[in-house]
Amino acid sequence: MKRKIIAYNFELTEALEKLNEQFEVHVFDSINPKTDPVFKQVLKNVEGIVGLALPVDQELLDQAPNLKIVSNNSTGYNNLSIEEMTKRGVMGTNTPGVLEDTTADAIFGILLASARRIAELDHFVKSGNWKGHLTTAEYAIDVHHKTLGIIGMGKIGAAIAKRANLGFDMNILYHNRNRNLQAEEKYNANYCDLDTLLKESDFVCLMTPLTPETENLMGEREFKLMKKSAIFVNGSRGRTVNETALIQALRNKEIHGAALDVYQIEPIKLDNPLLQFPNVVTTPHIGSSTYETELKMAELAVENLLAGLTGKRPKNLINP
Ligand code: DGY
Repeated sequence: MKRKIIAYNFELTEALEKLNEQFEVHVFDSINPKTDPVFKQVLKNVEGIVGLALPVDQELLDQAPNLKIVSNNSTGYNNLSIEEMTKRGVMGTNTPGVLEDTTADAIFGILLASARRIAELDHFVKSGNWKGHLTTAEYAIDVHHKTLGIIGMGKIGAAIAKRANLGFDMNILYHNRNRNLQAEEKYNANYCDLDTLLKESDFVCLMTPLTPETENLMGEREFKLMKKSAIFVNGSRGRTVNETALIQALRNKEIHGAALDVYQIEPIKLDNPLLQFPNVVTTPHIGSSTYETELKMAELAVENLLAGLTGKRPKNLINP
């Protein structure tokens, strides 16, 4: 009998084929893992899970006594209760090292789109409002030579700094748990405390992983510290931002605008006030979502899963 694994929100068939040869693969897409009866039934005998953003908590682990590994198809792993998994001998892995440039392209892209009002002016053209010379009502703001503050200078943060400094002559400020000397040397990034970054940046780009320390990192106080002319960009996780505070800051014009790829609840609800602001650019968590990069991530996730299920140490093991 083949060993059972679950593929959760993991649809790339090229990567899945490799698993189908060896395992009984149960594919689940967009189900509620807390309530779906078939999912709960399969969990009882499953040895491995590969996929995206499955909340692996005590409740799930209790239902999966044979589970050996959860291979996350993402760099972020805030969905995994690593401490609880470690206690039970369940491995957790992620997919770093293959998506940094792609994610930096996307996040710098929404920064540009927000500053230059690309989505808004696309709508302006397509809805027939372009009737003559542009007026100040259509003007945007410059990106080049401005100051970009990056909160979270890991590999993706550094790839954004590269684009900003080498391509757009931007000054880079950053705040991080540790100094990133490479980014300082290569992209003229200057380390500073969070408040200084917020006060001095024209663009504030949040790129931290979601941890207990970074949850709600951006709240009322932080938005008030930002320049009124500044744009806030979130490429990390929605829960790093207090959305109510962001909405208030936008309503009170405490900041100029925002570019968001991540939200407290994904998919974002249509009645979320953030969707009402013309000066907020929104994308559906597209950071790594290009065909090329998603395939590389999926292959790495499969490699990690196979290692864990064949008694080898997975390349991207997260457990301490
Ligand atoms: C990541 O890899 O963490 C991306 O945000 C996709 O979830």
